[in-house]
Amino acid sequence: MDFYQVLEKRRTIRDFSDKEVTEEVLEKVLSTAFKAPTNDHLRQFEFVVVRGQENIARLISLVAENTQKIQQAGLEAAASTMDKDEYTMFVDALPKQQRMLMQSNCLVLPFFRQKDCPLCYPADQSSLNYFASAWCAVENILLAATAEGLSCAFRIPIGNEPEHVKHLVHAPEEYEFTCFLAIGYAAENTHICKQKEIRVMDRIHRNVW
Ligand SMILES: Cc1cc2nc3c(=O)[nH]c(=O)nc-3n(C[C@H](O)[C@H](O)[C@H](O)COP(=O)(O)O)c2cc1C
Repeated sequence: MDFYQVLEKRRTIRDFSDKEVTEEVLEKVLSTAFKAPTNDHLRQFEFVVVRGQENIARLISLVAENTQKIQQAGLEAAASTMDKDEYTMFVDALPKQQRMLMQSNCLVLPFFRQKDCPLCYPADQSSLNYFASAWCAVENILLAATAEGLSCAFRIPIGNEPEHVKHLVHAPEEYEFTCFLAIGYAAENTHICKQKEIRVMDRIHRNVW
């Protein structure tokens, strides 16, 4: 696959088969995190890889609880505020939040070192450099996984999920994690959300907006 094909092919996949991701491929994919741009040349990323249904279930125990709360309150409200593509994605994704993390049987927790300011209390935009670098690294992982024939889905932690996870995996105090990242092989009948149709020329402004 050439690079642009990889970009086209990378989609969020929330239905996985039971085919296992080998350690060798996983290591290759995760190594690309260290090729992404990083503020201050830090590259302070660490990964906790969790396999086994019991281990994963323990880590994501709050996901089901928190998602259910959103599901009850959120879907009705979402219908009136989201556009059709967004809403269709939301309806498919929401009930799968817990299942998708279990199904691939390969849950990756990408951690990054957050220095100076607490992540959720930035002093200014540059305090978010650690977070931004961590997401550059995640994007590399998503693309590398795609190039290897793998698929990914991720969930952003909400509420008390980060503290819960950090405690369970014994993460050092100054480390934060980006997301719950499921890496695996897509199920045969996997659902892929409709891509938004965007005219790039409409989004490019010359000299002024
Ligand atoms: C910052 C960010 C947060 C996201 N949070 C979630 C999430 O919590 N759960 C989920 O299933 N997908 C999540 N997604 C995936 C998006 O829903 C998905 O990227 C979007 O619908 C476009 O689909 P595509 O990835 O197939 O192009 C998130 C994506 C981004 C970039």
